[in-house]
Amino acid sequence: MNVMRSAVTISTTGHGDAHSNVEHSNLKNSDDKDTEKRINKLKKSLKNRYPSQLDYIEAYIVKDLPVIYAVTPTYTRWTQKADLTRLAQTLLHVPNLHWIVVEDAERKTPLVTKFLKYSGLQYTHLNSKTDANYKLKADDPNWLLPRGVAQRNVGLSWIRKNVPPSTSGVLYLMDDDNTYSLKLFEEMRTIATAAVWPVGLTGGLKFEGPGSCSGGKVLSWYTAWKPERPFPIDMAGFAVNLKLFFQHKNAEFSNKVPRGYLESHFLTSLDLTRDDVEGKVEDCSEILVWHTRTEKATLKQEAKLISMGNPSNPDIEV
Ligand code: UGA
Ligand code: MN
Repeated sequence: MNVMRSAVTISTTGHGDAHSNVEHSNLKNSDDKDTEKRINKLKKSLKNRYPSQLDYIEAYIVKDLPVIYAVTPTYTRWTQKADLTRLAQTLLHVPNLHWIVVEDAERKTPLVTKFLKYSGLQYTHLNSKTDANYKLKADDPNWLLPRGVAQRNVGLSWIRKNVPPSTSGVLYLMDDDNTYSLKLFEEMRTIATAAVWPVGLTGGLKFEGPGSCSGGKVLSWYTAWKPERPFPIDMAGFAVNLKLFFQHKNAEFSNKVPRGYLESHFLTSLDLTRDDVEGKVEDCSEILVWHTRTEKATLKQEAKLISMGNPSNPDIEV
């Protein structure tokens, strides 16, 4: 006779590269009761310590939620910590999310290392420097070269190596400077194969991506620039089920695609066409993610003071 097994996954907050999930399979009899007792004790103590986080704790401990693997490329600039702080504090409200942060750097920087350590998130910290041929110079216009390609690919390789293919979950590519609504994460958690939704403030439009949907079917696309792209959509406008991702071992990002084709290249490397993707978020009628961009901080006065030999305290990390 088959014994029904229910798995409870307790995700501890991130420590380095460890995929820190502790699995408790409820067997039977005394093992079963012991586990239940321990979980109840843990729940009680967490609820006492963090009363405002009840929903979050319930979601972590009681429900067996599919995991969201979010891959974020990031690079050093004055506004990096501000952008990462805003993003991390959004992610703190999302249960069962594993954040894969990939620095565009030769080595992991102390700033990001410390930032992640105290973030309270479950994370993996990686790095990969963009090849000099593909790296934007300080004064280059930002559209000249694709950004975040090598970093996303390193994140994808990490998932392939470290996440058991049977894991129920989705993959989402998150830039470090966008604005994300919490509702979006609950929409994407249950994606069957691949899904799309509109992204606000992109493509030179109010929004770009699926323009109208009905019962999960995308009826039309709202786009003005290069509408012939297989998927006229921003990186923030789609997520895919892990199963589909694992089925396509060569799916990846490429620097060698025409401008605007990063997303299309990746989605077609998963063998997807426009007809295969589900339209999500109130039939694509609501904007839950915005392609916001942080103004570049040039700090001219700071440079002036440094040149005058009167710099600010170098120990203050901004
Ligand atoms: C848009 C899309 O939203 C991006 O997903 C896409 O990668 C990009 O265009 C592109 O065409 O390459 P945009 O705001 O123009 O985004 O790009 P950024 O936000 O500047 O960069 C995207 C991601 O790559 C960010 O997470 C950023 O931190 C990272 N990045 C940027 C690096 O890792 N290295 C860099 O030198 C620049
Ligand atoms: Mn951006």
